[in-house]
Amino acid sequence: MKVLVIGGGAREHALCRSLSLDPDVSALYCAPGNAGIAEVAELRPVDALDGAAVAALATELGADLVVVGPEAPLVAGVGDAVRAVGIPVFGPSAQAAQLEGSKAFAKDVMAAAGVPTARSYVCTNAEEVDEALDAFGAPYVVKDDGLAAGKGVVVTEDRAAARAHALACDRVVIEEYLDGPEVSLFAITDGVTVLPLQPAQDFKRALDGDEGPNTGGMGAYSPLPWADPKLVDEVMALVLQPTVDELRRRGTPFSGLLYAGLAITSRGTRVIEFNARFGDPETQVVLARLRTPLASVLLNAARGTLDAEPPLSWRDDAAVTVVIASHNYPETPRTGDPIEGLAEVAAQDAPDAYVLHAGTRREGDAVVSAGGRVLSVTATGSDLAQAREKAYKAVSRIKLDGSQHRTDIAAKAAEGR
Ligand code: AMP
Ligand code: GLY
Repeated sequence: MKVLVIGGGAREHALCRSLSLDPDVSALYCAPGNAGIAEVAELRPVDALDGAAVAALATELGADLVVVGPEAPLVAGVGDAVRAVGIPVFGPSAQAAQLEGSKAFAKDVMAAAGVPTARSYVCTNAEEVDEALDAFGAPYVVKDDGLAAGKGVVVTEDRAAARAHALACDRVVIEEYLDGPEVSLFAITDGVTVLPLQPAQDFKRALDGDEGPNTGGMGAYSPLPWADPKLVDEVMALVLQPTVDELRRRGTPFSGLLYAGLAITSRGTRVIEFNARFGDPETQVVLARLRTPLASVLLNAARGTLDAEPPLSWRDDAAVTVVIASHNYPETPRTGDPIEGLAEVAAQDAPDAYVLHAGTRREGDAVVSAGGRVLSVTATGSDLAQAREKAYKAVSRIKLDGSQHRTDIAAKAAEGR
């Protein structure tokens, strides 16, 4: 099977790594990719947001399957453009991707499907904003309706700041604050059958102890030893299957990866948000634990034959990933700094620990930083403590001027807290 992956972050590196290990995959391409992905896939340049260009590339390569990694191409209809030339796509249509592309749409689907989520109002003017802020009180949760590359959500005790963010958005969702630990649970679906993956936890804040600004994610781990063993079954029954059923009922079936961001509150599990694609950095740890070869699962989801797939098989190992970010991330990340130590990790820590590239590119013989999140250093071990130790040992070998990483990824969970 020839597979083309669209995107170029650590999530796509994790996807390409798994696909490259799958004996069913005879050729693997990634567009545009990055310096690390180039080691497991053949890179092609493409504007990932240009559906016609992606469809032409997939046709030229004779791809049997296109996997779209990031949300922006999905919302822009790249999946539809590729399906229109007869090539199966793992990833939803533009209409179904509205589950991530519009928070108001997601709330409407959840209301119709009876999915538990924060109570909310959709506001389009200052009067509605003031009413909603006062109805819920602090802490205020204000979400830009549309895609905002991780910058759309403000959670604050400061009413003026909440109001200012709300008024800067065209349409905004203001909702009840949800207390409790967060869990990311992914499911692969063809629009009818839903196959849940294993839960993971993401660390959103830039600094240790969950301090500092919100980021795209600074690390992740799986499994979650503290979670109720029935969590996956519960979320399947209350969230994932009803959402997939509701989108099919509306005539816009969702196929691809349904990402449920959940809060485990004292009053039960609630959806914080849906995404329409694999999460980053959670994918790095979830795929590290998946034993089932990935390609046929993704192809069956793309073709609508997921019911033919046997249940997924998982390794007993735990996995931890630590993101190395550039100087000044997330505000104004500096790029172009050389990265050293990659060969040392490959020589001394593989196969238990390895480096997935997020924002990197090759410059002559050097690999340099090319984004805010630069690397996602991933390790597996017999438990979280061992996976953590291996991941941080590999992190210590990497040299990137001015870089930052959290030192407490999976620390509490590894200690049984
Ligand atoms: P997002 O940018 O959509 O991934 O959301 C960023 C983060 O905002 C989430 O991971 C949560 O930590 C937080 N958040 C979103 N909605 C709520 C809520 N209703 N209550 C508490 N925290 C929230
Ligand atoms: N890890 C958060 C996200 O992928 O949106």
